[in-house]
Amino acid sequence: MKILGIETSCDDTCAAVVEDGRHILSSCIATSAAEQNLYGGVVPEIASRRHIEHISQVTRRALDEAGLCANQLDAVAVTFAPGLIGALLVGVNFAKSLAFASQKALVPVHHLRGHIAALYLTHPQLEPPFLCLVASGGHSHIVQVASYTQFHVLGRTVDDAAGEAFDKVARTLGLGYPGGPAVAKAAQGGSKTAYRLPTPHVDGPYNVSFSGLKTAVLNAVNHAKQAGEEVDIPGMAASFQYRITEILCEKLLAAARDTGATRICIAGGVGANKVLRSKVEEGAKSLGAQVFLPELSLCGDNAAMVAAQGYYEFQAGHIAHAGLNGLPTLGIDDKSLDSPL
Ligand code: KG4
Ligand code: ZN
Repeated sequence: MKILGIETSCDDTCAAVVEDGRHILSSCIATSAAEQNLYGGVVPEIASRRHIEHISQVTRRALDEAGLCANQLDAVAVTFAPGLIGALLVGVNFAKSLAFASQKALVPVHHLRGHIAALYLTHPQLEPPFLCLVASGGHSHIVQVASYTQFHVLGRTVDDAAGEAFDKVARTLGLGYPGGPAVAKAAQGGSKTAYRLPTPHVDGPYNVSFSGLKTAVLNAVNHAKQAGEEVDIPGMAASFQYRITEILCEKLLAAARDTGATRICIAGGVGANKVLRSKVEEGAKSLGAQVFLPELSLCGDNAAMVAAQGYYEFQAGHIAHAGLNGLPTLGIDDKSLDSPL
């Protein structure tokens, strides 16, 4: 079964074709990240405009590279929630029109379910159940993946998402956007013990909080400026990266230990962080659990993950009607996702 995936929830315009949820036939991305960098973060209006400009060409390229025309597809899957509403609507309306014109099923995909499905593209043998940390620019969840379409959220951030904290710290340190890769790069030249940063306390055994950590970095930088001292940028980047990955890893492993999980996974943009990846690999070893990590190129937003999850949603009968709307917020376990939308 060949599914075209469309993804426009943030600043990447993506289209891809995936066969049977597991084999990538093509995956194309046009990003406005460089332009967003001029403003220090994503400007929603710019993201929407660039999606409109790019979506037809990116989709054409994805079909061409897969050697298919729209009529040969079995379904069109699209990210409809959560995300920037103006950005989502470009993808949703484009997918609706394409599905209608080519008489194919329209499959609605939740963005975070898509991130988790990137694991199926990397590991052909991986099947639910497993435990997964989903950490992106907008979300940080510890999720029990009970089946391909059933999810239980065990923990979440009570304030900033992990990727958002990376982005804000990068901005404070003048490292540009997106912040995650910039902080990771700067950290290579620094010591993780250069600054003592706090582990914010939070209710709930698997919840996380990053706003206090982000503020601690900001305060340290302001304090240094006022005292006329130079900030050790690589040292701060390394100290921050060490602390945030320590927090994420500890909570994930605690959840794994308490639930007896034998398979531990990471997904989402922050899942590309090498320090996080190796910490989770190390920690899981001590629990005797297997670790599955997405290929680096599939951690960030892409449409192959949307097409992969679309396959499983389609199998479960989750088909959308022509009135499908985009939603800026929606839980990964929302009951409305259990039936046709
Ligand atoms: O999943 P994603 O591509 O988009 C959203 O759904 O938000 O995640 C983007 C986030 C950004 O905040 C970016 O700074 C972060 O993922 N990120 C990283 C790394 N690469 C991307 N964070 C830490 N380390 C990285 N290597
Ligand atoms: Zn994402």
